[in-house]
Amino acid sequence: FQPKLLAGRKLLITAGPTFEALDPVRGITNLSSGKMGFAIARAAAEAGAAVTLVAGPVHLPTPRHVRRIDVQSAQQMFDAVLPLAAQHELFVATAAVADWRPLAASAHKIKKDPSQGNRPPAFEMTENPDILASVAALPAGQRPRLCVGFAAESQDLARHGRDKLLRKKVELVVGNIGPATFGRDDNALLLIDAEGERELPRADKLSLARQLVAEIARRV
Ligand code: C5P
Repeated sequence: FQPKLLAGRKLLITAGPTFEALDPVRGITNLSSGKMGFAIARAAAEAGAAVTLVAGPVHLPTPRHVRRIDVQSAQQMFDAVLPLAAQHELFVATAAVADWRPLAASAHKIKKDPSQGNRPPAFEMTENPDILASVAALPAGQRPRLCVGFAAESQDLARHGRDKLLRKKVELVVGNIGPATFGRDDNALLLIDAEGERELPRADKLSLARQLVAEIARRV
């Protein structure tokens, strides 16, 4: 009999893109499919953890035994995650959160205006809250013991990943080793922590998720 790796642990995870509305029918988003995050949620639940998954707009079924909360925007994701963080000892941020949102979404569909020569609209943007950094900055007693961030970079993954580790004050950063993994079923990961770096070679996302869950279990 092998006890489950995360039995009795509570894990909170964000996944998918966020959607920042411009008007009732349009918005800004990104190409995250949510597959990596959903695979980690599944692997953690299989390992015995009580998993809460806060998901942006994705087309994926909820893994078994996972509590799922659906959100659209980064602000909604922040508002869902922050009050839950204190109840979870593990936090994994896989969501591809939009860095900016339009300062004010239009209440009505923005129309072309021939009297203005169909001049394209200009949107003033404002910064979204950093969910991972905010959770990692919670005071002791409310902060999950282990905070894990993800990094998708087009270059210098190790350097940018280490920079994220220090800037966001998290215990582990997981880098997506290129090429872009959006929507794919496989990935390769670079684990970056205070000690050093370790590569998880290319494999399907569920098998990588299981390796990552084992890595998380080793640390708690
Ligand atoms: O460099 P970047 O800020 O995109 O860092 C990515 C990591 O931070 C990911 O783990 C992502 O889920 C998290 N993040 C977040 N909230 C943001 C931006 C990024 O939780 N607003």
